[in-house]
Amino acid sequence: MSNILVTGGAGYIGSHTLRVLETKGLRPLCFDNLSTGYREFVGGRPFFHGDLANEADLESAFASSEIAAVIHFASHALVEESYRNPHKYYHDNILHTLNLLEAMRRHSVSHIVFSSSCATYGIPERVPIDEGERLDPINPYGTTKMVIERILQDYQNAHGLRFVSLRYFNAAGASRDADIGEWHVPETHLIPRLLETALGNGPAAEIYGSDYPTPDGTCVRDYIHVMDLGLAHAAALDYLFAGKPSAIINLGTGTGSSVMEVVGQVRETTGIKVPVEMKYRRPGDPPQLVANPARAKAVLGWEAQHSSLREIVETAWNWRRGPACRAVASIRGRP
Ligand code: UFG
Repeated sequence: MSNILVTGGAGYIGSHTLRVLETKGLRPLCFDNLSTGYREFVGGRPFFHGDLANEADLESAFASSEIAAVIHFASHALVEESYRNPHKYYHDNILHTLNLLEAMRRHSVSHIVFSSSCATYGIPERVPIDEGERLDPINPYGTTKMVIERILQDYQNAHGLRFVSLRYFNAAGASRDADIGEWHVPETHLIPRLLETALGNGPAAEIYGSDYPTPDGTCVRDYIHVMDLGLAHAAALDYLFAGKPSAIINLGTGTGSSVMEVVGQVRETTGIKVPVEMKYRRPGDPPQLVANPARAKAVLGWEAQHSSLREIVETAWNWRRGPACRAVASIRGRP
């Protein structure tokens, strides 16, 4: 059974991926400092409480068993925070990745799947966006992802690393059994915020801008179910293990939904007329981000299976109302 070291495996996307890897006969080893992740999300799977800043932590994880590949989720990932605190993003996201790559080199591990983002594109010239689109991130978070992709290429040239960089569009939804899901503190994302409002926690949900050049004036995003993201990581490992060349791949559905369409789905799923208030635009929000997912299908044989807006909101709602979510909320408080 191949051991896969998963940094950030106690986080939102990481924890769903741990489960998918297991169903594919792989053995995920979670490495997480629990700064934003939850030990509960890992369950009984192998777990290293470690920090990428600390070489000794990495050494003990890599020395524990033979690692066939790494999936690297661990990262600061709040766009707004990255504007206010660029040092935190440039320092941690980039240096911690370098620490990880050096540990991989010391232990002759040459396969990595990296969590990149559609934030690398900035405001795209063409939508749907394909991977050849010019990279021009408009926030430090997106810039760190772009720089790390370049570092991976340089490590490939210098040291024979092979990588798949997955550019996620908008991750959303939760596991079907409502055991794990999205719980960020603070929470900045649209769907969990709308669900909090539906639960009666807080005032009307805010809609950031209704004057965008989109059909209903609100921003359009490509929401992708977190289990579909997990499945894509498993496909990326298969691809690397088959000896194929490094690749950069969008993960989205190819279909965009506006903020007001999401509000409509939340109202339908919850049966609650969630109140909303129109606000000004949020700085740094591109009007439309929709993936061209053709390369993912051609290269990885992957396409989204669980990413209708209905399934996304339904699973997110079941998670948010369930006991597992309440347990996690009691650890770090409400957003
Ligand atoms: N939005 C609201 N009200 C809210 C929260 C969000 O109207 O309370 C809007 C945003 O303006 C945006 C859309 O809902 O138009 C989606 O916003 P999210 O915050 O849920 O997601 P983002 O598109 O901002 O962020 C996602 C990922 C980031 C990634 C970014 C790329 O979460 O990691 O896409 O732009 F960097």
